[in-house]
Amino acid sequence: MEPFRFHLFVCTQQKPEGVPSCPASGSSAVFDALDRETQARGLNHHVQLTTCGCMGLCDEGPVMVVYPEGVWYRRVQPADVSEIVGTHLHDGKPVDRLVWNDAPAMKAMSLEHGEKFRAAMAAREKAGMLPDRLDQMIRGYMPSRCILTALELDIFTAVGDGANAEQIGTRVHANARAVGMLLNALVALGLLSKSGNDYRNQPESARFFVQGSQDNHRNGLLHTANIWHRWSTLTDAVRSGTRIPIGRDTPEWTRNFIAAMQRNAKERAPLVVKALGTAGVHRILDLGGGSGAYSIALAKACPDAQCEILDIPEVVPLAAEYVSQAGVSAQVSLRAGDMLQDDFGSGYDIIMLNAICHMFSEEQNRDIFRRARQALAANGRLVVQDFILNPDKTGPQQAALFSLNMLVATRDGASYSESEYTRWMEAAGFTGVCRINLPGPSDLIVGRVK
Ligand SMILES: C[S@@+](CC[C@H](N)C(=O)[O-])C[C@H]1O[C@@H](n2cnc3c(N)ncnc32)[C@H](O)[C@@H]1O
Ligand code: FES
Repeated sequence: MEPFRFHLFVCTQQKPEGVPSCPASGSSAVFDALDRETQARGLNHHVQLTTCGCMGLCDEGPVMVVYPEGVWYRRVQPADVSEIVGTHLHDGKPVDRLVWNDAPAMKAMSLEHGEKFRAAMAAREKAGMLPDRLDQMIRGYMPSRCILTALELDIFTAVGDGANAEQIGTRVHANARAVGMLLNALVALGLLSKSGNDYRNQPESARFFVQGSQDNHRNGLLHTANIWHRWSTLTDAVRSGTRIPIGRDTPEWTRNFIAAMQRNAKERAPLVVKALGTAGVHRILDLGGGSGAYSIALAKACPDAQCEILDIPEVVPLAAEYVSQAGVSAQVSLRAGDMLQDDFGSGYDIIMLNAICHMFSEEQNRDIFRRARQALAANGRLVVQDFILNPDKTGPQQAALFSLNMLVATRDGASYSESEYTRWMEAAGFTGVCRINLPGPSDLIVGRVK
């Protein structure tokens, strides 16, 4: 059975640096070009395009196979893609100059590769070498640190339309030799290109890291850079059981933090609004509303509704900016306060706790739930959105790692499981507590007042 007219497999098997592989010969660019070209020619309903692992023909990469006929192409480059799509996928005639049809040689090469690979693995195993997977995980901080430093120094903006290390060093007020080393590493990571002595941004860096670009994420990512410093205290935090103080949060820290929250929340807010529905929703309390993205989305979806954001005094003016920019100031009000102590008010149809509970201990969350129950109207709902751990708390990976993020960043925070949230909500008097799975890393737990 073949649901599509053609099924293309493009090898994108990653191998250690220096080992011949299809990605090293440019298979990812070939894959992207195939995707673009099949879309552009309206063939995407007839062509299934997938990546695949090593086929043992790595010296001849990038390798791709077109089924059901089983036409093998080798040394394909992005410049060949238009011809392959037009001649083969559209007109049904393979591009002879790229077809590899020496089956005995291909089979021999593939088998030989398999044997060599297994022998190399066995030798490494015998020698007690650290597996690549572990090595990469352990050194994962290097690329991360490199990009975060570039963001902190605003290197990508300084690269502009192209500049050399000395010019960039002057622009970011840093040592030219060291900047050159950083720039070279960024080229190695695929975020910059280099021609002669001049560096240029790659399309993704230009789009996401440069000031003035519409999709610039730099401010939000500077929060990740701040968190990186906290993660370096993890060993001591594990010893002591709580975060290690490394200085107070500055106004700049808070601005970056709220920018990071906004980046995530803007994308998730429509999912939450859709999951909750808008029927019977008139008054909403958004506890720790941050940038206000969820209140803004609800206000837009329910033009008659009034939302109230309660957040700490430093954040309220930042939220006010986002609310005003969204043009919903008449529907969204802001209150500076402390959700751990302040009276919530009464008569709400929804109280939201988006990315809040992980900052607090079990006791603090139970107390918030109890007070939220009192503040909700009949039939009102308490909505928790967070990373939800499996019952044994060992996954999903992101939730388990985020728990440590809370260890290094808060006094008592952690990720929690569905059964913990359910227990706390039921103890607070909520009924019909249920989990709503959302696309992405966090889900909703919703309890109702009956
Ligand atoms: C992780 S952010 C989540 C922001 C927002 N709900 C979102 O999902 O984008 C936590 C928010 O809670 C606020 N916050 C922390 N402690 C608080 C407290 N005791 N009272 C009120 N707000 C608090 C922070 O200022 C921040 O805006
Ligand atoms: S890496 Fe592509 S065939 Fe081996």
